[in-house]
Amino acid sequence: MKSILIAGGNSGIGRHVAAELVSQGHRVVILGRDQRKGEQTLASFGDAAEHASFHAVDLSTHDGVRHAAERVLKDSDSFDTLVHTTGVMTSEDLRTTDGLHQVFAVTYLSRYHLTQLLMPALRRGHHGRVLMMTAHIPPTIKAASRDSQISDHSTSLRRGNQSNSPITITPHTSPASSQRSEQE
Ligand SMILES: NC(=O)c1ccc[n+]([C@@H]2O[C@H](COP(=O)([O-])OP(=O)(O)OC[C@H]3O[C@@H](n4cnc5c(N)ncnc54)[C@H](OP(=O)(O)O)[C@@H]3O)[C@@H](O)[C@H]2O)c1
Repeated sequence: MKSILIAGGNSGIGRHVAAELVSQGHRVVILGRDQRKGEQTLASFGDAAEHASFHAVDLSTHDGVRHAAERVLKDSDSFDTLVHTTGVMTSEDLRTTDGLHQVFAVTYLSRYHLTQLLMPALRRGHHGRVLMMTAHIPPTIKAASRDSQISDHSTSLRRGNQSNSPITITPHTSPASSQRSEQE
């Protein structure tokens, strides 16, 4: 039996992963925002729910991530696997209380922050693993990143860029998705 934390496990892909792992007899800890959805998810596991638990947390802020890690570590001091399936998909400029874009804060930053905080617990686990569920970046966010690239480039030129290499922000895309966007 493995001990697995699924951030974003009360909905969508994370919920399916949680259901599969619980049915295989693994111990699963789920993080999500919505308490009601968390309870429904546990109820959907039937008898196997005795191996599962849920914490309602807000991973959109630094404090929220720290609080989530504290709650998780209070119950479990080791994990074999950490699965990240949290996600927010919006092209609106919605900001967290830390002033960051929601998509960046939840879908990207919180994953690294949470992993860092849980690293000691993963090291105590059996062959600790971290899995990230990622996606193709929507065109609107790509366009914003391109603007950042341009503005970072001109800022570095204005500063008299000594290394002669502009700072660039390049969205990470898989070869398949790069090919797709070139064809678009
Ligand atoms: N669906 C697809 O076809 C697809 C394909 C490829 C990749 N992906 C990627 O896979 C990931 C999951 O996608 P999905 O479709 O399963 O998404 P989803 O159903 O919307 O699930 C997102 C999960 O993230 C949680 N979450 C969102 N904001 C949060 C916050 N501030 N604090 C804590 N938890 C938060 C949600 O909790 P609540 O429900 O409680 O809000 C939910 O459990 C995303 O990163 C997505 O980009 C999805």
